[in-house]
Parts: sequence; C-alpha cells; structure tokens
Amino acid sequence: MRPSLLVCGLLAATVNAAAISANFMNEREKLAKDWSGRGGKPGPKYFQESKFSGHYDGRYTDKALPEDEQIAHLSSLIQTYLATMDDLGVETWIMHGTLLAWWWNQKIFPWDDDLDVQVSEPGIHFLAENYNMTEHHFDIPGVEGGRTYVLEINPNYVVRTTLDTRNVIDGRWIDKSSGQFIDITAVRADDFRRARGDTGALMSKDAHRFEENDIFPLRRSFFEGVPAKVPYEYTKLLAEEYGDKSMANSNFMGRVVT
Ligand SMILES: *[C@@H]1O[C@H](CO)[C@@H](O)[C@H](O)[C@H]1NC(C)=O
Repeated sequence: MRPSLLVCGLLAATVNAAAISANFMNEREKLAKDWSGRGGKPGPKYFQESKFSGHYDGRYTDKALPEDEQIAHLSSLIQTYLATMDDLGVETWIMHGTLLAWWWNQKIFPWDDDLDVQVSEPGIHFLAENYNMTEHHFDIPGVEGGRTYVLEINPNYVVRTTLDTRNVIDGRWIDKSSGQFIDITAVRADDFRRARGDTGALMSKDAHRFEENDIFPLRRSFFEGVPAKVPYEYTKLLAEEYGDKSMANSNFMGRVVT
C-alpha cells in the first residue's frame, strides 16, 4: 500500500498500534449503516490547546519550539501523517493554508505554524473505530530515537452539525516530542443543502462548504517530498478561500513567496 514512500529514503515505520487487520475498504460496507446522518447535541470542547499557543498540545510540552526548529518538525509531522494514512488505506488530502503552500512550492511555507488535512466521513469513522489513541513510531533521519505520533479522534465527530462550534476539529495527529499537531477535519454530506436539491453538497464542521466535484476525484501529487493528494479543483478552492491574488502575487500576506 505504500509504494513510493521508501523511495524517498524517508521513514521506516513501526506501527505500535495493536495488530489490527481492519482495512478501510473492507469496512466501508459496515460503515454505511453507522453514520446515518442525524445530528446530535453539540458537546463541551474536546481538544485542548496549550495556554501558550493554539498550535501546541499542552499534554506533551510546556513551550513552543524555537522558530528555526518548527518547520523541520512540521515537515516530519505531515510526512508521517501521510505515510500512516496511506498504510491504513484512509484517503486524505491537504487543504486550506497547506494547499496554498503546496500550490506555491509543494512545501510548507517558512512561516507556517499549522497544517490542515481532510478525510471523508467514512474515513474518520474508520479511524475512530480502529485507531483512536494509537501510537506510531517513526525513525527519522537525523533524529536520535525517532519520534512517536498519536492519532486522536474527537468523540464528537459523530455530531454532524456546524452548531457544535467547540468541536470543529475531528481528529489530530500529534507529535509527542514537540506537542505540535495536524488538525484533521472530516468532509461530510451537507444534508441541509442536499435536501434543497444540491446533490453534491459537502461540508465540514468548521463551516466550510464544498461541492463533491471540487474535491473528488483527488489528484495525486507530492508535498514535503512524499506522495500527497489534493482536491480536484484546487485552483477554484484556493481562489474562493484566499482570492485570486493568493496565487498571482508573490508578495502574499506581506510575505515574499519564492
Ligand atoms: C479516543 O480516546 C480518548 C481517550 O481514551 C477518548 O477520550 C475519546 O473519546 C476517544 N474518541 C473516540 C472517537 O472514541
């Protein structure tokens, strides 16, 4: 399932997760029965960020990394996340600011302090059922002892409404060594708009709305040197979110993009 990964000379993964043979495609039939589309009650906030930064998990650290170490950590974070999802057979793609960074140079922007990825609703359900709180150890070149990452799924992922404003993030991929994490959001059928005739309407709990044809079929590309997928209509999505200028002007947001 991970053909090109080792070619990049990147990571030899040892997954500490209990030996689980479940595979996303095998589970798909089962899943259809479970996420029947009813809302559910908004709950208290599940994921807690640290007091000093919204981009760190305070259970694993009490301080942000020095600026010059942040990017290298984020790079390993996304590489290990993409490799793990590929291993588990869960379709994932990059979005928002991470997609814009991909558009410019297929790499994290030097000033980035977070990363955004999405999965489908069956995908988040599969991860919740089989891999919540699993730890994944990776050997990382130049990093003694490697690093361990935790996959944590918000139990409120089953609440399918944007009214659940304290739980808009469905899952996190967390670097235990630094406390940095990637936010994972699930893209779901938008029942409200579908009932009004928009048959391809999709949404995520952070109130972004999409069309099925804008995201699928995903395109294969690379990000940070490893295989990654991007939404089909990436130019349109980026223009909607950041304006046409974000792709034309190399002096975007006051930063010079090279
Ligand atoms: C994942 O595990 C944590 C820790 O046990 C738990 O609090 C959380 O509810 C679980 N998430 C899901 C989706 O079951």
